[in-house]
Amino acid sequence: MRIRKILCPVDFSEPARDALLFAADLAQQYDAELTLLHVYQIPGYAFPEGIVLAGPEVMAELMVRIDKVLGEWKSDAEGHGAMRVSTLSVQGAPWNEIVRTAREQGYDLVVIGTHGRTGLKHVILGSVAEKVVRRAPCPVLTVRLASHLEAHDNAGL
Ligand SMILES: Nc1ncnc2c1ncn2[C@@H]1O[C@H](COP(=O)(O)OP(=O)(O)OP(=O)(O)O)[C@@H](O)[C@H]1O
Ligand SMILES: [Mg+2]
Repeated sequence: MRIRKILCPVDFSEPARDALLFAADLAQQYDAELTLLHVYQIPGYAFPEGIVLAGPEVMAELMVRIDKVLGEWKSDAEGHGAMRVSTLSVQGAPWNEIVRTAREQGYDLVVIGTHGRTGLKHVILGSVAEKVVRRAPCPVLTVRLASHLEAHDNAGL
C-alpha cells in the first residue's frame, strides 16, 4: 500500500487536533499530500411552524471564519512537518461528505479523531467517526486523545 494522499477531517475540536498532528506526522514520513476537510451545516432554529435557516450574510461570515481557522490548522500541520497541505470546506452531512471526498478524490488513508465537539465521552467512537470507519473506501486511522484514554481506564472500560 502506498500512502500518497491523506484526508484529515476536522471539526476544530481537541480530538480532531490530535488527529491533525498525527496526520501531519504521517504525511511527512510518507511524503504524502495532506488535506484538511471541514464539513459545515447551515445553522437553523426550529419553531413550531418550521425551521428558520441562517441567511446569506450569516453564511458569508461563517465561511470567512471557517477559512480562517482552516488556515491556522494548515499552518500547524506545516509546523509539524507536513510539506503539502491543502484545505477544503464543504456543506452537508459530515460523515457523508468525508466518505464521498475520500472516494471521489482517491484518498489512500483517512485520519480521524475518535471523538469530536458534541459527543459523549463514554462512547467508544463518535457517530461521524463510526460511520466513516464503516463506509470509507480506504483504511481509516482513528486517533484517541490521551485524556480520553485515562477516563476510559478509570471507568474500567
Ligand atoms: N463537521 C465535521 N467536519 C469534519 N470532520 C468532522 C466533523 N465532525 C466530526 N469530524 C471528525 O470526526 C471525529 C469524531 O467526531 P464525531 O462527530 O464522530 O464525535 P462527537 O462529536 O464526539 O460525537 P457526535 O457527533 O456523534 O455527537 C472528529 O475528531 C473529526 O476528526
Ligand atoms: Mg460530532
